[in-house]
Amino acid sequence: MNLFSSIFSSIRIPPTRKLKAGNIPLHIAIIMDGNGRWAQKRGLPRSAGHREGVKALRVVLRTCLELKVRYLTVYSFSSENWKRPTGEVNFLMDLFVESLSRYLGEMNKNGVRLRIIGDRDTIPGPTLKAFNNAEKITEKNERIFFNIALNYGSRQEILKSAKKLAGDLKDGNINPDDLDEKKFSNYLLTGDFPDPDLLIRTSGERRVSNFLLWQIAYTELYFTGTLWPDFGRNDLLKAVFDYQKRNRRFGKL
Ligand code: IPE
Ligand code: IPE
Ligand code: MG
Repeated sequence: MNLFSSIFSSIRIPPTRKLKAGNIPLHIAIIMDGNGRWAQKRGLPRSAGHREGVKALRVVLRTCLELKVRYLTVYSFSSENWKRPTGEVNFLMDLFVESLSRYLGEMNKNGVRLRIIGDRDTIPGPTLKAFNNAEKITEKNERIFFNIALNYGSRQEILKSAKKLAGDLKDGNINPDDLDEKKFSNYLLTGDFPDPDLLIRTSGERRVSNFLLWQIAYTELYFTGTLWPDFGRNDLLKAVFDYQKRNRRFGKL
């Protein structure tokens, strides 16, 4: 038994927050925000916040495994994040590579299937290579589908899907009368994943910042002031607990 699985097996949900086993969100999406502010509050460079953010993600992934969440999709770098200073962007691209080499073995052992969603064409070579490798190594795993949104923007995704769809219509591969929401969804990068049941955003911002716009049509939204590096197991349990109190109507009475 490795360190990870021994920690994992000793974790128990506190009775005060007893979750209903039958109502665990199938798919949780997270906008991991607030790394920079976490660091600034401590007089540290923003990069220190990003490093700490990776540790928080490891704990959250572990907790999702514990809860038997089947899909976890996290926003790690948006299409708009290229507007940040080159130093920060480069740091993040290197941090992806470093973190993958550190945690890939552990994730693979724990049945994590890792995938990236985003525009692969403009992800720097070494970062893309590390992710391609991680996707290949974990491709047979199915305990949890762990999607990392990297160089992801939802409008860009929808636009690209619309262009591909237009091509398929023109080529006669699809009949416009057959087109429905399900078929359109399959053109998106999240094609075969169910829509998120719960979307969490940390750091107190209450916006979606171009994340999964189509997919969150009926997702429950959860905002917390906690900065991402401080977000831990109990914070996730609290979010799921809150989710379990919601009445999801989907337009019905
Ligand atoms: C989220 O934290 C990580 C990325 C967007 C890459 P931020 O870097 O946005 O941290 P704040 O929001 O400036 O505190
Ligand atoms: C959203 O956070 C993107 C990620 C968490 C990766 P931002 O910090 O980039 O979002 P805005 O700029 O506050 O909307
Ligand atoms: Mg931010």
